Amino acid sequence: MAPGPEAPCASGVSATVVFVVERARPEDLDAVIRLSARVFPEEYQDTFFSAMLEVAGETFLVARDIGTMRFLGFALATRSTTAEARLLLLATVPDQRGKGLGGRLLRETEARLRRKGCLGVFLEVREDNLPGIRFYHRHGYEITGSVSGFYQDGSKAVVMQKGL
Ligand SMILES: CC(C)(COP(=O)(O)OP(=O)(O)OC[C@H]1O[C@@H](n2cnc3c(N)ncnc32)[C@H](O)[C@@H]1OP(=O)(O)O)[C@@H](O)C(=O)NCCC(=O)NCCS
Repeated sequence: MAPGPEAPCASGVSATVVFVVERARPEDLDAVIRLSARVFPEEYQDTFFSAMLEVAGETFLVARDIGTMRFLGFALATRSTTAEARLLLLATVPDQRGKGLGGRLLRETEARLRRKGCLGVFLEVREDNLPGIRFYHRHGYEITGSVSGFYQDGSKAVVMQKGL
């Protein structure tokens, strides 16, 4: 069953945006799919995201502007093994970057994974996504490996990891 609305769990303020981070709802999927298509070269089936509402549950998060309720970004993580989680996707809308949204989404995802008992989290990021790699590095992730041909277009992924 799809999760219902729940109370906001975290909020953040910057000079120009006041936002809330909360669990994704079915009505967020259109915005998630649009942003994903805009910022990621990979094609994800719409059914992937709807399935993730249940599979990822409380670690499928969205950020929205508190005033306008505009969708601002999302984070998606799943448990990979009993002790380890995988951050699948993280994106914020291009015109609101650099305001702390991505960092807040990441920290809230990590906090929720920690509460679930995860001891670590890993992720893959395109090797040419230097802003993404720098972003994760600033948040305590270390490069632990790489996977050739990881992406649909044959690009290599860098694997990054962090203890929780
Ligand atoms: C990576 C990403 C999620 C970061 O989101 P964000 O909302 O910009 O995140 P934050 O504002 O918390 O942090 C961005 C950092 O870049 C800096 N920055 C400054 N101006 C910026 C700008 N115009 N755009 C992006 N980052 C900027 C910020 O100061 C911040 O530095 P810090 O971590 O030292 O504080 C976002 O750039 C994105 O969606 N990228 C495309 C998708 C992607 O590559 N995802 C990661 C791989 S899955």
